[in-house]
Amino acid sequence: MALEISPVEKGETVRFKNPSKRFYEAIGGEEGMRKLMYNFYDKIYESDIAHFFPQDEEEFEKVKEKNSKFFIQICGGPKVYEDEAQSMDLNEYMIRLHDEFSINEKARVEWLGTMRDALDEVEGVDEAIKKEFWDYLDQFSKLTVNTFSDGSTYYASYTQAKEDQ
Ligand code: HEM
Repeated sequence: MALEISPVEKGETVRFKNPSKRFYEAIGGEEGMRKLMYNFYDKIYESDIAHFFPQDEEEFEKVKEKNSKFFIQICGGPKVYEDEAQSMDLNEYMIRLHDEFSINEKARVEWLGTMRDALDEVEGVDEAIKKEFWDYLDQFSKLTVNTFSDGSTYYASYTQAKEDQ
């Protein structure tokens, strides 16, 4: 099953739903999720978007860990990230956190491509379950894109569907 990237459309309302807990359980809970995210960030540092991220090793470690915690929580695991979000809705907080970076479609595609490579290396998880997780990433990542080829800046609106149980 192909994990495809759908293009961002400026002005479009993005619709997404949080991943169901199926992916979290299939990958092996917190440990599996951390392994995936650390591998992902190692690849990010070899990617074309490495310059977006801290070059300092200690700062990089912090981003890796925070990133893992966010994904653990958003995928239905324990609420290990929410203190960071300062009582904001988790997704809203995450979108706003990206506002300070100028992210265009090319950067998003590189980010998703890197995540796809990391997901390919996850063994023992059904493709259909990976696809559910992927759909969240494909849609949600559109909300991190705020810079367009005509030089304009635009922050998309979104609706969040209720996730499957
Ligand atoms: C599904 C889409 C995405 C999700 C869920 C996501 C999630 C996250 C998370 C959890 C963090 C760490 C937050 C923290 O510090 O507490 C983060 C940081 C960051 N993300 Fe994303 N991200 C996404 C897409 C992108 C894309 C497309 C880019 C493009 C370059 C990007 C660039 C960054 C940068 C630059 C940081 C901050 C690094 C720093 O602290 O200096 N993200 N993201």
